[in-house]
Amino acid sequence: MTNATLEPDTSAAWQELGRLAAGIAPDFVRNAQADVDRFARFSLEAESLFADYSRCPVTPEILTALEALADERELDAAVSEMVSGARMNNTEGRAALHMALRGTPVGDSSAAAEAQQELEAFLRFADAVREGAVAGSFGARFRTVINIGIGGSDLGPRLVARALATPADPVELRFVAGVDGIELADALVDADPASTLFIICSKTFTTLETRSNADAALAWLRQADADIDPRDHFCAVSTNAEAMDEFGVHPDWRFRIWDWVGGRYSVWSAVGLAAAIAIGSDKFRRFLAGARSMDEHFINAPFAENMPRILAMLDIWEQNFLGKNALVVLPYDQRIEFLPAYLQQLYMESQGKAVDREGRQMPVATGAAVWGTPGSHAQHSFAQWLHQGFASVTAEYVGVVNGPAAVGNNGQQLALANMLAQADALALGRSAVEIDNESAELVPHKVHPGSRSAVILLLKALSPDALGALLAHYEHRVFVQSVIWGINPFDQWGVELGKIQARVYAEKMSAGDADGLPGAGRYVLRWTDAAEK
Ligand code: F6P
Repeated sequence: MTNATLEPDTSAAWQELGRLAAGIAPDFVRNAQADVDRFARFSLEAESLFADYSRCPVTPEILTALEALADERELDAAVSEMVSGARMNNTEGRAALHMALRGTPVGDSSAAAEAQQELEAFLRFADAVREGAVAGSFGARFRTVINIGIGGSDLGPRLVARALATPADPVELRFVAGVDGIELADALVDADPASTLFIICSKTFTTLETRSNADAALAWLRQADADIDPRDHFCAVSTNAEAMDEFGVHPDWRFRIWDWVGGRYSVWSAVGLAAAIAIGSDKFRRFLAGARSMDEHFINAPFAENMPRILAMLDIWEQNFLGKNALVVLPYDQRIEFLPAYLQQLYMESQGKAVDREGRQMPVATGAAVWGTPGSHAQHSFAQWLHQGFASVTAEYVGVVNGPAAVGNNGQQLALANMLAQADALALGRSAVEIDNESAELVPHKVHPGSRSAVILLLKALSPDALGALLAHYEHRVFVQSVIWGINPFDQWGVELGKIQARVYAEKMSAGDADGLPGAGRYVLRWTDAAEK
C-alpha cells in the first residue's frame, strides 16, 4: 500500500483537523440547525441512496480538510490498487476482489470470469430449487432450506433474504449459526426431512460451529429416514473441496468461493445462495447490479459528490477528532432488521486493529463500536441513553420511503416521522427555558442536551438495487477508513486466539477432565454431572 510509511497523525491535514476540532463548541450541532442552507450543503444523492449529514458537526472548511487528509493518505492510489487486484490483504497475501463478484472490473479478467461462471451455476441451482426442478431423494420439492453458516456465511444471506423475500416466494428459509445446537433444534423441530435442503456455507469448511451443526444435521437426516440419500439434501459453498469430499457433498451441488473474498464481503458470491433461493435469480442479479453501480460511483465520482468517501471521512472526523467511539445503526424498516448485525461484522471485524499494515502500534483509535436494532424498538429500549446519557455516539438512521405494496405507506410514514423526530431530538435537544408548564423539580429531568450527531440515509424503496447499493456503500466506507489509518481491513487475527483455546477446553470438558480448566469451567463440569444424576 502506498501510504505504508506514513503515520496518520503526523500528516499536515491531521494536524489541521485537530485544530478545527478544538473550535467545535459542544452546542455546535444544535446551533448549526438554524442555518437554512445547511441541509442543501450537507446532503447528497447517489445510486438510489440519499444521505443527509447536516446534523453532523461539519463545516465546508472541515470537509476541505478531510479531503486533504484523504489526499495525503493517498486514497485514490489505494482505490486504484484494490481495483488493480493488488494483494490488499497483506498479512494473508491475498487480493480483495469482492467487487468482481458483482461484475465490477477488478484484478485480471480471470477472477471476473470465474465469478461469472459460478454466479450462473448457483443462480441456476437457486431457481431450480424454487421451481422444484431439483428435489430431494423421493422427488419431493424443497419447501424448507436451512443455511448452516456463521459470521459472513450467515449475516449477509440472512439480511438479504429478510429484506427482499416476500410471502409469495415458494421456499421457507431458516438460518442456523450458533454452536450450542439450539438454533438447529429449532430449525428442525417441524422440518420434513424429505423436503428439506441444507446449505453448508463455510469459506473454510473448518469452522467449529458450522461443522458441528452440519454433522448434527446429517445425523438427524439419517435418523429420520434411512432411505434418504444425504447427497440429495446437502449442498455446500466453500473454498475447501477436500472437506466437501469428506463430508460427501455431491460434486454438482457445490459452489465455489475463493481466497480473494473475505467472509464479511461474500454475500455477493455463492455465500448468498440461501438468499438467491429465497428471492430468485432476477432479484439477486439486480442486487448485484445495485452494488456495481455503487462501485462505479465510489471509484469515479469526485470527492464532493462521493457518498462513501464523504461519509467515511465523517466517520474518521467523529471518531478520531471528536472522540466518538460508537456508531448506532437504526433502521426504520423491519425488513432490514438484520442490517445492524451485518454492519457490526463488516465494521468491527475489519477495524479494531491494534497495529498498522506493517505491524506498528497504531497511534490512534481504529474504529467505533457498532450496534443497533430497528429504530422503532430502540425508541422503547436504549434511546433514553442516547438522548440524555453520557456516551459519545454517532447515530446512523436508515429509512425506506415506500413500503411493500401489500402493506402500503401508512406504517412507513409513521416510521419515518419517528425517525426524523428522533434525529431532531438528538440534534436540537431541549433546554430548561424551552420547557413550559412544568414543576421546577422536573425541569432538569426533561432537559435534553441535544447537539448529538446523526446521519440519515434514505432509500426510495427497498428494491434489490437499492439494497445492493447500500451494502456496497458501507463496504467502501470501511475501506476508506482503513486507508486513512493504514490498517488491513481484510484480516481478523484477533478472533483466532479464543478459537484455539476453545478446542483445548472442549476436549477437556468432553473427557470430564477438570485439570487445567478455569474455575468456571470446573463448575461447568460439576453442574453437568449434577444434572446427569
Ligand atoms: O471467525 C471469524 C470468521 O472467520 C469470519 O471472518 C467468517 O465470516 C466466519 O468466521 C465464518 O467463516 P467460514 O465461512 O470459513 O465458516
